[in-house]
Amino acid sequence: MSEYPNNFLWGAATSAFQSEGHIKNDMLEWEKKGHFRKNGKDPVYGNASDHWHHWREDFDLLAEYGLNAYRFSVEWARIVPEPGKIDEKALDQYKQMVDYLLKKNITPMLTFHHFTHPSWFHEISPWHTNEALVQFTFFVDAVMQKLGKYVDFYITLNEPLVWALAAYGDGVFPPGKKDLNLMMQVVYNLLLAHKSAYSIVKKYNPKARVGIAKNIIFFQAKNRMNPVSVLLKSFVEHFFNDMLFKAFGRNKLEINLPFFLTFNQKIDLKDSIDFWGINYYYRMFIRCKLDKHLPFEMFFENKSGFGLSDMGWEIYPPGLTYALKKAAASGKEIYITENGIATDNDNKREKYLELHLEQIQKVINNGLNLKGYFYWSLLDNYEWIEGTNARFGLIEVDYAQKFARKAKPSLQFFSNYIKKFKK
Ligand code: FCB
Repeated sequence: MSEYPNNFLWGAATSAFQSEGHIKNDMLEWEKKGHFRKNGKDPVYGNASDHWHHWREDFDLLAEYGLNAYRFSVEWARIVPEPGKIDEKALDQYKQMVDYLLKKNITPMLTFHHFTHPSWFHEISPWHTNEALVQFTFFVDAVMQKLGKYVDFYITLNEPLVWALAAYGDGVFPPGKKDLNLMMQVVYNLLLAHKSAYSIVKKYNPKARVGIAKNIIFFQAKNRMNPVSVLLKSFVEHFFNDMLFKAFGRNKLEINLPFFLTFNQKIDLKDSIDFWGINYYYRMFIRCKLDKHLPFEMFFENKSGFGLSDMGWEIYPPGLTYALKKAAASGKEIYITENGIATDNDNKREKYLELHLEQIQKVINNGLNLKGYFYWSLLDNYEWIEGTNARFGLIEVDYAQKFARKAKPSLQFFSNYIKKFKK
């Protein structure tokens, strides 16, 4: 049996917009304009999981089932409803939430940017402009003034590349741009924003640990004998999995994908990250396609035999080990900040957990500096384009019954596992 390090964080994660409800931001407006429409239907935000009113109950369940950590985000649109204006009442509620977690011996991990913005943001300070940094640091400072003394773990950006691709590459998230060069400028500015947030956090709480949650995908060429597919796979991998780690290692944001995307700019990121958070979900296959704009396609397939999730994502546990090793090569501490499955079949969730926890035990036995695991998600919630159909939660939310909560057997399973190891 493997040993988990002392103070290992056993947690579950949420994000503000996906769980709290009662929020007006860029994403809600986007949904209302029909941008998330699928098969002629819009998802309905409908106040997500109403966590804004059920948080005590949710934290009671966390504690009852023996989890000792909770990752959440604070909603920028709530805290800064108008440029330069802080809503103290919203901050007061976040403070009460943090106090309650601490009282229950649950370590909070706070994310500043998890995909959403105030409604005014893209008009007056889009991410490709320097004004974005001014607005972001204003928000981070306001949060730190209120919570800095109480929270010791921070994530500045959740999946910056995933967000930048969705908002400036595919245009599926607001502001809906499709411009890869602009997207690289956005990534650059996000890294600058991370760096500023890092110093603001340290100013208020020098002992705090600060990181970025990085999504890693296990890419595989569909035909490993086809050199073009293998080359395409290595390009995609380089961009999506490696580029940010390299930016921190080399103080340069650099990508060179011939005929497709080039960017090369210095950025001083020295001493500006304490840990990498890893969000890992699936393996994705790549094959070439005759299309001069995008000469490849990516898809899922149940090759592992473990099956697909309700969102069609392949369950592929060894990919987690790959992701962890990649992150560990940075020499920083590592946390798994998201890992989970959308399924209506809770037995499948248990199996998913079991298989991924097995991978974790192995890497820890091999000496990897992993310090925590957060299942995504604590609650059934609003999964962007999928709305509330994709059920990731360890806790069921009954939308028809005033958002009633019920622990799923997978939460009990996770709890038993934690009990076995917790020191
Ligand atoms: C991640 C996001 C998170 C959630 C999961 C399923 O990419 O960080 O908000 O949507 O996927």
